[in-house]
Amino acid sequence: MVDNWVGELIYEGKAKRVYKVNDELLIMEFKDEVTAFDGARKEHAPGKGRLAAAQTVFFMQLLGKYGIRNHLVDWDGDRKILVKSLRMIPIEVIVRNYAYGSFLKRMPLVKPLTKFRKPLVEFHLKSDELHDPLITTDDIIEAGLVNYGQLNEIINTALRVNSILSEFMASRGLTLVDFKLEFGFDKSGNIVLADEISGDTMRILINGRHLDKELFRKGASALDLVRAYEEMNRLLNIP
Ligand code: ADP
Ligand code: CDP
Repeated sequence: MVDNWVGELIYEGKAKRVYKVNDELLIMEFKDEVTAFDGARKEHAPGKGRLAAAQTVFFMQLLGKYGIRNHLVDWDGDRKILVKSLRMIPIEVIVRNYAYGSFLKRMPLVKPLTKFRKPLVEFHLKSDELHDPLITTDDIIEAGLVNYGQLNEIINTALRVNSILSEFMASRGLTLVDFKLEFGFDKSGNIVLADEISGDTMRILINGRHLDKELFRKGASALDLVRAYEEMNRLLNIP
């Protein structure tokens, strides 16, 4: 798809660098770095970039097989993926199957790891300065980020992604606790699943043990995190 996997660097985030190839395509390069607490804790994590890229490619391809439109075009087999360039919707869509993380902080009346009767879908504004605040569906519509029909499409897609990923994980003995998705608009105005799906953006348990970035948030080293991602990829047969 691209000859040399180079482009003009247009953005450097906490986890990835983004390069423009042309008006239609971007390269996203996963960094060998792990950050937590809005970047306050940051460590070099050799090998993590490739593992997270491989996870993203695997999950996007799996979802694609179920008809979930997503931005993935190609993978260099290492830390870079080629994606469709989208106009991103600046919200994080979080789906929760079990009570954890920021849910417990705002709702301490629920016991940790309680299974919800039905998956919860919630929205946070993407803003490091404001620490990604929880926002309502009315906020999103009033701010003109999407219309009502588009918001429903996002919710339904997020729930479908949850069913597909939860079932897939369960079939391998893993529990999907929660995860974050991002969406954008393509040139025709379609809503497309974007960004990444990896141990950085979900919580996955095996026999109560994390195989995700929560390890690092809880104080494990970057090296331990890389080992956990290797284990996840082994268990899920991710190349
Ligand atoms: P952050 O900005 O939170 O530090 P990253 O380091 O992951 O995050 O940077 C990747 C950036 O690329 C994010 O801002 C994300 O919203 C954006 N992005 C993801 N997929 C696409 C896409 N297909 N088109 C345009 N931007 C994208
Ligand atoms: O991580 P924290 O407890 O602050 O947030 P959360 O709202 O409980 O996170 C829910 C899920 O979304 C977890 O799987 C996080 O890894 C993921 N998430 C993310 O990928 N990026 C964020 N900026 C926030 C959460």
